[in-house]
Amino acid sequence: MTKPIYILNGPNLNLLGTREPEIYGSETLADIEAACAESAKEHGYNTVFHQSNIEGEIVDMIQEAGQKGSALILNPAAYTHTSVAIHDALKTLDIPAIEIHLSQPAKRESFRRRSFVSEACTGTISGFGANSYDLGLHAVINLLKT
Ligand code: DQA
Repeated sequence: MTKPIYILNGPNLNLLGTREPEIYGSETLADIEAACAESAKEHGYNTVFHQSNIEGEIVDMIQEAGQKGSALILNPAAYTHTSVAIHDALKTLDIPAIEIHLSQPAKRESFRRRSFVSEACTGTISGFGANSYDLGLHAVINLLKT
């Protein structure tokens, strides 16, 4: 059995659809989860999709992805800019890990320019709204094929 692709989401992303739609769009996290599952299935992969507002739970899920997953797609949300614990968890992985953002943090407030996550990821995709997830998925599927 092919191991699933883990797609993990950080704080406040459970509010997508109503949270600052002018920045994050009108799609809900459930819409994104369904689109990811369908897109991955076309390429023969299952997905494990999870959201948490709690930093330690995200660390636990990254560790689980390292043990049970084939790749990781992570939108760490605000923890992108603060979390050494998530950085350290990512550093333990030997599977591809893609950082994604709906918005383009580099175009926003200065505190969003620092990512503790980029330094520990294979690559970053940001600024394409909900489509960032699909682009991230295609990026890891390509990596897994090569
Ligand atoms: C975000 C960008 C972060 O700066 C922000 O804290 C989020 C969402 C994005 O997907 O654009 O919560 O990760």
